[in-house]
Amino acid sequence: MTEKVSRRIFLKVAGTSVAGVGAAVSPVGSAMAAGGDQAAIQAAAGMAVLPYPKTAVGKAKAMQANTPVSFSYPDADSPCVAIKMGQRVAGGVGPDGDIVAYSNLCTHMGCPLMYDPATQRFKCPCHYSMFDPEKSGQMICGQATEDLPQIQLEYDPASDSVRAVAVTGLIYGRQANVL
Ligand code: FES
Repeated sequence: MTEKVSRRIFLKVAGTSVAGVGAAVSPVGSAMAAGGDQAAIQAAAGMAVLPYPKTAVGKAKAMQANTPVSFSYPDADSPCVAIKMGQRVAGGVGPDGDIVAYSNLCTHMGCPLMYDPATQRFKCPCHYSMFDPEKSGQMICGQATEDLPQIQLEYDPASDSVRAVAVTGLIYGRQANVL
């Protein structure tokens, strides 16, 4: 009898604790369900949301198809790569809608990625994960479990300038993209 009462009390207390935890995290969960936008997640968690800078990546007409262009975004400690894919892709900018950019740090353990022009994939030399720049950085295979963070670009036809303006996804090793 004593054992049954103890178990009932234990379950009641445990249930209350679980419900409390669920209520505490629900705003963050809702933000993630609404698209996983990092700024929305931070805002829901009551964290300060710093604005993204606008950073020049280069001139669109100077970019060669299938040749990566290195830059840093949103700060000097975050290596990124822009690529003119040679065919229009979702999220692509420039006169041909084919320029995209990504963080160059693998989402598994942060190794610098290599772009393979033959397959048009990002490949990780550390544990062989692969990412698809034509499909928003989708993880294809390997040890990584997250897609590659995509750098949002804008294009100014008047100056032919490509600029980085935001990041979709969390850059490896960070709690927030803008520190
Ligand atoms: S660091 Fe890239 S797969 Fe492990």
